[in-house]
Amino acid sequence: MPRVAILETESDAASAAASWIAELLSETPDLVLALPAGRTPLSLYAALAARHRAGEADFNRAATFGLDEFAGLAPSDPRSYHALLRHHLLDHVNVDPARTFTLNGAARDWRREIEAYEQKLASVGGLDLAIVGIGRNGHVGFNEPADRLAARTHRVRLRPESRRANSDQFGGRFRDVPKYALSMGIGTILNARGVLLLAFGRHKARIVNRALTGPVTTQVPASLLQLHPNALVVLDEQAARG
Ligand code: GLP
Repeated sequence: MPRVAILETESDAASAAASWIAELLSETPDLVLALPAGRTPLSLYAALAARHRAGEADFNRAATFGLDEFAGLAPSDPRSYHALLRHHLLDHVNVDPARTFTLNGAARDWRREIEAYEQKLASVGGLDLAIVGIGRNGHVGFNEPADRLAARTHRVRLRPESRRANSDQFGGRFRDVPKYALSMGIGTILNARGVLLLAFGRHKARIVNRALTGPVTTQVPASLLQLHPNALVVLDEQAARG
């Protein structure tokens, strides 16, 4: 069972998580992190950028890997998760661009892209900490509920509810949200030495409860995190209401 920390507000939770990550960076300067996109991690990224400005978080030797990306979007596309990570974190800390990796959603040969991503991950010794959010349908990264989950980085067809949840990034136009994404696999995430799951807000309470206290099932991919020996879940009070 993952450890669960409940803080009063999202900003308290983000600040606690940022302090913990800053500490990990000072203990293990070459920390390898997986970074989620979406709305949830933005307060954490702001807190990490502030810690960096205060000289308390040094990313100089760290490596970062984006968790997922929309198929068809190049890193330069402002709607890409790559752009979100740049804008909210990577441009504000001293991470080495040569150790900053994201999936190229526009890669002509996506099979090669996902294979190369796993190779890059292996070349740095795998993930030390996978930071993840949770979709309202229980997805982690873009590992959507299904009878079978892919273990490694893969291409996935997005569920309509996930496309809807992301439509803000596409001017609110559901039809413009890509139908496919590239995502780290659930095995890649479970292989991380540590996992940090963040969830904030009342709208996440139901799925957080199902993922943490319900059966471990591929229909709620986040429930597989119950199997991880070193997972920490950080919630605000609203997300913990379930
Ligand atoms: C998105 C992303 C995930 C993210 C999750 C929750 O679609 N693929 O990486 O963690 O869904 O998003 P949000 O934080 O915006 O609720």
